[in-house]
Amino acid sequence: MPDPTEVRTVACVGAGVIGGGWAAHFLARGYQVRAWDPGDGAEGRLARIVEGAWPALTELGLADGASPDNLTVLPSLAEAVDGAGFVQESAPEDLAVKRSLLADIDAVTPPGVVIASSTSGYGMTEMQTEAATPGRLVVGHPFNPPYLIPLVEVVGGERTERWAVDWASAFYRHLGKSVITMDRELPGFIANRLQEALWREALHMVANGEATVEQIDTAITDGPGLRWPVHGPCLTFHLAGGEGGMAHMLDHFGPSLKAPWTRLDAPELTERLRDDMVSGCESASDGRPIAELVAERDRAIIAVQRAVAASRSAHDE
Ligand SMILES: NC(=O)c1ccc[n+]([C@@H]2O[C@H](COP(=O)([O-])OP(=O)(O)OC[C@H]3O[C@@H](n4cnc5c(N)ncnc54)[C@H](O)[C@@H]3O)[C@@H](O)[C@H]2O)c1
Repeated sequence: MPDPTEVRTVACVGAGVIGGGWAAHFLARGYQVRAWDPGDGAEGRLARIVEGAWPALTELGLADGASPDNLTVLPSLAEAVDGAGFVQESAPEDLAVKRSLLADIDAVTPPGVVIASSTSGYGMTEMQTEAATPGRLVVGHPFNPPYLIPLVEVVGGERTERWAVDWASAFYRHLGKSVITMDRELPGFIANRLQEALWREALHMVANGEATVEQIDTAITDGPGLRWPVHGPCLTFHLAGGEGGMAHMLDHFGPSLKAPWTRLDAPELTERLRDDMVSGCESASDGRPIAELVAERDRAIIAVQRAVAASRSAHDE
């Protein structure tokens, strides 16, 4: 298998919103990109996605030799994967399509090359059933747009070999991605489970006439959303506990888990869950004192508000 840092050519199989976004990211990092997409008009759409992304990527800084000209669209899957040191599959979210396509990619890709699927929610166990060598198949779940959002969730299926998960994680890190390597499969992975919980509650509130679309969006953009670029939901609530941190937060607000604040049922707040949350916050914050985290949060909120205001006024000019 190639060293993850020495790959120079990658293949994008399926080149819509996500595959095209991946292609733009790989190109900006200086890779040769070989793409295949059987859809009508796919080549033109892909070119428009890369063209649309390029100003932002240029602003962020391109790798040496990076150019949209390093993109080649091939007429067949076999030609697209020829010479690629990594394959990113981004075909439609349909289990039958994923199963047969991953088997087809596996059949034409040289041994030892890792094949990753962008799936938003299928487990690799259910997608790798038809592949002859399923050990090198992993999920590499990005967020739209993949050329800007750093997160990639990497997880294998029951028949995936550990080296492939580790290889993909190392490769994405080398690309500059923020990688979560998951040890177990979970429908929707981590980020989509969180996002989906919020999304479903938003839909419930609109369906019941409890809140408008505008109220819901303002509630996040001018509310908790401002804290999330620096601290996720756990450290955010760690700070909601004041000097007592997460322990005080859970003891204080634990009873509200029984209140009907959301349609999603809360888990029982056992001693073990409480301890896991408290020790998790300690380790996620490297044991830094609450006052330091508060100062970090406050600086970040001001920076985010200024950045959003500057971006809006630049757009209005
Ligand atoms: N859109 C998102 O926000 C998002 C985010 C993360 C992950 N994903 C995942 O990425 C994958 C692609 O989603 P998308 O939003 O880019 O969809 P899309 O519809 O924009 O693109 C899918 C592309 O796949 C092509 N295609 C159709 N059949 C194919 C086949 N047999 N082989 C190869 N390509 C084929 C289509 O022509 C199209 O260009 C899905 O698995 C989706 O769940 C999407």
